Amino acid sequence: MMNKPLIEVKNLRKEFHINKKKLLAIRDISFSIEKGETLGLVGESGCGKSTTGRCLLRLEEATSGQISYESKDVLALNRKELFSFRRNAQIIFQDPYSSLNPRMTAEDIITEPLRIHRCIEKSSIEKEVVKLTDMVGLSKSALSRFPHEFSGGQRQRIGIARALALRPQFIVCDEPVSALDVSIQAQIINLLKNLQDELSLTYLFISHDLKLVKYISDRVAVMYLGNIVEIAKSEELYNNPKHPYTQALLSAIPIPDPEAERKRQRLSLIGEVPSATAPPKGCPFASRCPHAQAKCHNIMPGWTEVSPGHKVACHLQNS
Ligand SMILES: Nc1ncnc2c1ncn2[C@@H]1O[C@H](COP(=O)(O)OP(=O)(O)OP(=O)(O)O)[C@@H](O)[C@H]1O
Ligand code: SF4
Ligand SMILES: [Mg+2]
Repeated sequence: MMNKPLIEVKNLRKEFHINKKKLLAIRDISFSIEKGETLGLVGESGCGKSTTGRCLLRLEEATSGQISYESKDVLALNRKELFSFRRNAQIIFQDPYSSLNPRMTAEDIITEPLRIHRCIEKSSIEKEVVKLTDMVGLSKSALSRFPHEFSGGQRQRIGIARALALRPQFIVCDEPVSALDVSIQAQIINLLKNLQDELSLTYLFISHDLKLVKYISDRVAVMYLGNIVEIAKSEELYNNPKHPYTQALLSAIPIPDPEAERKRQRLSLIGEVPSATAPPKGCPFASRCPHAQAKCHNIMPGWTEVSPGHKVACHLQNS
C-alpha cells in the first residue's frame, strides 16, 4: 500500500539569470516522496540535483510550479510559516569542511538551531546536546572542540547532529559522503539509515554515485539537464533500466567480478551535454543518445508508465 506523500512536487521550474542570460537549472519536474521513504536523486554534475533540494527547502526560490509538504503549499509560506517549516525540513551538506563555522565549538554548532528556534527551555539544551551527540556516535568530550580538530567523518556527524537538533521529519542529504574517504562513507551511510529507522525520517538523497544511491534509496529518480528522465523503485531501476541515459550511467559502474566485467557491454556516452543556457527543445538527452530519431530532436517525450511506479520519459517507450 502506498503511504501518503509527505512531499509533492509538481511542474517545478527554476531559472537563474546570469549576465542577462537565462540558465534553466530545472525545466519541469514532478515527483513525490512518501513519509519514511528515501528518494534517491542521481545524475551528472550540473544536472540540477542541489537546486532541486534547495528549492524544496526554499533555500532557493522556485520560478514556477508547486511544492506541497503535508498538503501545505510550501511556496506560499510567509516568513513566519517558513520559520516553522524549517524545523521540519533540514539539509545535510556535502562538505563538512566548509559548512561548519570554524570559530564555533561542536556544542555551539549543534545547539545553534535550538537557540534560534527557542523550541526547548534553556536549561534543557545541555541535556539535549548530549543526546544528539550520542545519537550520531560522538562522545561528550567532542563538544568543546572546534571543527578543524575533527576528521571528515566526525565533522559530518556534527553536521548531522545539527540537522537533527530541531527533530525534523524531512532531510535533504546533498552528497553527504562524497567528500569523505571511501572507508568512512559506509559508516556515515549506515548512521543515516539507522537514524531514519529510529526517528522515522524521510530523505531526499542526492548523489552522483549510483551504487551508493541503490543501497540507501527506496526509489530513485534519474536527472539529466534539469529534467527527471526516469523514476522507479530502486531494485527495478537497477535491474530493468529503460531510459538510454540510465542504461549508460549503470553501464559505467564497475562490476566486482572481473569475468562478468569483461563480458559486459559498456555503453559509452558520446556527444556533449547541451548548455543549460540553451536547452534543446526536444529530448534533453538527444545529443548523446545512441537511439535518437528525428522526432527526439523536436519533441519532448512524455511519460510512459512501463510498470506500476516505473516511469520513463523516452520516445522509444511509446513507439
Ligand atoms: N546560484 C546559482 N546561480 C546561477 N546558476 C546556478 C546557481 N546554482 C546552480 N546554478 C546552475 O544550475 C545548474 C544546476 O546546478 P546544481 O548545483 O543544481 O547541479 P548539481 O546536479 O547539484 O551538480 P553537482 O553534482 O556538481 O553538485 C548548473 O548549470 C549550475 O551552474
Ligand atoms: S527520447 Fe529519443 S533521444 Fe531521448 S532518450 Fe529516448 S530515444 Fe534517446
Ligand atoms: Mg550539487
